[in-house]
Amino acid sequence: MNFSINRRAALAALGTAAAGAAGWGRAATPQDAWRSSYAPHNGPLKAPLDSGPLRIAGRWPAALTGTLYRVGPARRELGGVSMNHWFDGDGMLQAFRFEGGRVSHRGVLLATPKLQAEEAAGRLLYPGFAQALPDARPMLGPDSVNPANINLLSLPASRELFALWEAGSALAVDPDSLQAKGFKVWSPDTQGAPFSAHPRVAPDGTVWNFGYMPGTGSLLLYEISPAGTLRRRHVLAAPQADMVHDFAITERHLVFLLMPLLFSAASGTGDRLSHYRWEEKSPLVVLLVDKADFKVQRFELPATGVFHLANAWEQGGTVQIRFVAQPDILGAMRKMQVDQPRQAGYAHQPRWTQITLNPATGQAQMQALDASGVEFPRIHPARNGLPTRFTTLAARSRGMDARVEGFDSVATLHGDRQQRHVYGAGWIAEEHVYVPASRTAPEGQGWVLGTAYHWPSERSALSVFDAAAVNAGPVARVTLPYGLPLGLHGQFVAA
Ligand SMILES: [Fe+2]
Repeated sequence: MNFSINRRAALAALGTAAAGAAGWGRAATPQDAWRSSYAPHNGPLKAPLDSGPLRIAGRWPAALTGTLYRVGPARRELGGVSMNHWFDGDGMLQAFRFEGGRVSHRGVLLATPKLQAEEAAGRLLYPGFAQALPDARPMLGPDSVNPANINLLSLPASRELFALWEAGSALAVDPDSLQAKGFKVWSPDTQGAPFSAHPRVAPDGTVWNFGYMPGTGSLLLYEISPAGTLRRRHVLAAPQADMVHDFAITERHLVFLLMPLLFSAASGTGDRLSHYRWEEKSPLVVLLVDKADFKVQRFELPATGVFHLANAWEQGGTVQIRFVAQPDILGAMRKMQVDQPRQAGYAHQPRWTQITLNPATGQAQMQALDASGVEFPRIHPARNGLPTRFTTLAARSRGMDARVEGFDSVATLHGDRQQRHVYGAGWIAEEHVYVPASRTAPEGQGWVLGTAYHWPSERSALSVFDAAAVNAGPVARVTLPYGLPLGLHGQFVAA
């Protein structure tokens, strides 16, 4: 059965099932969609979630076996008080497992020290990224407020899995039971230091990462062996490294895009976001760091914001960078607030962008490319730092209801060729990952896997696409018997 042909019937069935579920379906208006996507079912999150075997619509690819782990903010409410910014929920680790022709989902709230302390107290104890909290408890250190809710790192050689935040330690988790096992200590002198949520795994398995602390003017660099042993750590002087969500590697370099989003401890209210200001006249600073000796070459470009880089590579004496520019990153973060009214239209759409650095001349150029309204770029997982032509992105179609935040589509870029699948009205698409047919498969072969939330029925679904034909619609889909709060990033781990 080709699922795309039967999409209309499947969606109709989905809606019928939702209408029959007592107490569900209350998020019936577009204005409610974003709130619903934070907390489906209009109440406290019930966890753990366990779907049991799921009915597969379409044909699941026989060779696609393994686990898609995802993590994201999930628990947002305790003792009648809720956190209302997308980033501020405590992490839920999810596993979509594909084995022997069966697909199932499980989601577990991560028992961080923060979650445990708050559950014991029966109330929220710490302010959020964008929300102050009366009677907040003093913070003892970054890990006392670490919700482990942004991304995952898999180390296949040691079969380790970590749930990552960006201002504290990596949280070790059991890849089978999904239970938290405690914060990772890479070395005594980096214990408790920030370990960011977007480590880059080089083709040889070496893990590169960094940590930042707003206002310190420095970045902490990590080089970790494929087996999870810290090889080197280095403190790098870095201007305006006050919010650095992601970076990139090439064969020879680390690449940092440092935006002019400046942190001030002196100004602001009880939440972290209020301490930031945008310095339009300051440049986007690009640091090109030599992996061998950590020597730095600095470039400057016109100011732009950035959350995510797709990749970077060496090419003919230049360094190529592909990333998503966020022209109004403070505005983008403020819009992720559930209790703010939606603003019609998108004046500052994120844009697929390239940077070319020429280390010999010191020149840097930035050029907008032909895709906007996109985020969450993903590439072939074995090609970090090597040239790539294939990228998967969550995308916003022109027809998406302006009152609904987020994305409604998945896009693939393969060289100049773009393909899109629009989920349609009522759907919010999450990050979609590219799973190549094998580690050595050419780019563009394999599958694109991603989740989407259907807010009229408060259900989430996982779809599988042929990576070469995303515009043909999913080849298979499973619909969960519940909705998942919108998550952030996922990693596929092959069986
Ligand atoms: Fe991210």
